[in-house]
Amino acid sequence: MANAGASHERARLALSRPDLLITRAYIDGAWIDGERRIGVRNPATGGEIASTPDLGGAEAAHAVAAAEAALPGWRAHSAKERAAILRRWFELMLAHKEDLARLMTTEQGKPLAEARAEIAYAGAFIEWFAEEAKRGYGDIIPGHARDARIWVDRRPVGVVAAITPWNFPAAMITRKVAPALAAGCTVVLKPSELTPFSALALAALSAEAGVPAGVFNVVTGAPQAIGEVFVSDPRIAKFTFTGSTAVGKMLAARCMDTVKRVSLELGGNAPFIVCADADIEAAVAGAIASKFRNTGQTCVCANRFLVHEAAYDAFAEGLAERAHALRVGDGLAAETDQGPLIDRRALAKVEAHVADALQRGARALTGAAAHAAGAPFYQPSVLVDVDANALLCREETFGPVAGLVRVSDDAEAVALANASRAGLASYVFSRDFSRAHRISEALEYGMVGLNTGLISTEVAPFGGCKESGIGREGSRYGLAEFQELRTVCAALDEVPLRAYSALNAIGTVT
Ligand code: SIN
Repeated sequence: MANAGASHERARLALSRPDLLITRAYIDGAWIDGERRIGVRNPATGGEIASTPDLGGAEAAHAVAAAEAALPGWRAHSAKERAAILRRWFELMLAHKEDLARLMTTEQGKPLAEARAEIAYAGAFIEWFAEEAKRGYGDIIPGHARDARIWVDRRPVGVVAAITPWNFPAAMITRKVAPALAAGCTVVLKPSELTPFSALALAALSAEAGVPAGVFNVVTGAPQAIGEVFVSDPRIAKFTFTGSTAVGKMLAARCMDTVKRVSLELGGNAPFIVCADADIEAAVAGAIASKFRNTGQTCVCANRFLVHEAAYDAFAEGLAERAHALRVGDGLAAETDQGPLIDRRALAKVEAHVADALQRGARALTGAAAHAAGAPFYQPSVLVDVDANALLCREETFGPVAGLVRVSDDAEAVALANASRAGLASYVFSRDFSRAHRISEALEYGMVGLNTGLISTEVAPFGGCKESGIGREGSRYGLAEFQELRTVCAALDEVPLRAYSALNAIGTVT
């Protein structure tokens, strides 16, 4: 892997708006520098693209103060006014889609086609919540006494702190920030220090769209000091996190000291069940989409393939053939299907999982080795005869390795699928709709793909059960995560019914 210099990386970026590569944090409508900086590397080349400020607790607290100060003004906007600003933000994202995609590929590594798709996906959350902003309906509840009137409305929860991961540098931000702003909340975001440039470009476009100063703040830096403010500052009403299960649990526990609202989108261990009667071609296509998207680095990537023995060989051969044909390389190259892993640590985990599976008796049909492009590239891999107790099946691999377990009936597949503390995504392939539906009902997962490997869309709720998270993002349910129900219980003065009878009578006469 070549070690390209910063000027080389920037030249390769070739942005039509070079000012979208921003190297400062964004707090209270101002671009902020820091004494210390963190270099951001292109995972495909190892070259440093640029650096961003390594801010700490003081700057995070400053951003929280800005968000708190901006809250009354933003909350007072009508829903329609907030919607119009969000809509403009969405349109600006579309107008700069190519630049945003190039920034993303350069800092994250995913192929340009996937980066473009992520920008469209990320923008769709802003478009969706611009529309939903106007639909935060309340309720009128029949009173519990003759003089009682009760209504319920939805209030913004207040200042929101968000931590987002590197695997989707734009969509995980808009999936949280768009509903928060739509609801009338203000936000302090800490993006991953590995992929801050997408977040900063989004912040710049939000300002151009008219999001007022202090309403959306981006604090760059290492996680510890900033995270400490996010979980402990009493001015923050809601904490929302996408990342690892271990970190999410720890942060959520800290949030309880100040009883913050918490949403968590944590790790998965997605089972991919192929029934005896599955359409093999469709199952292979679904597996390629689910397993190899983003080099296997999504929380909803198929992690364990539970394949009926009657379909096993055909599915394994088909998958290996398609995986072998994937072209691995720099995401900026037009022909690339699979980019690098995010870093060497990710590569070491993939290698450890593969070594463990092989040691337990698995065989590689393709891959199972580092790629000639060098670290952190890894070959798309398919392993058969995988032991259900292998690390590949017990932990989230987050890499381009499909491990196939042989099962002899649907009950065994469901039992293995549910034998996990994770409960995010799951997949079932069968030609028999009743059978697929029954299996989907038995799966303890927040999301099920039936005969499809792609389940993510802004219109459907995204989230998990068990230790995969709390709450849902996207869809009409996503707005409620940033709203508080407020009940008003009113006692009316006693008015003799007669008085109204008289008024009604007058009304009738006139
Ligand atoms: C994730 O990996 O956390 C998100 C994946 C998606 O939205 O499809």
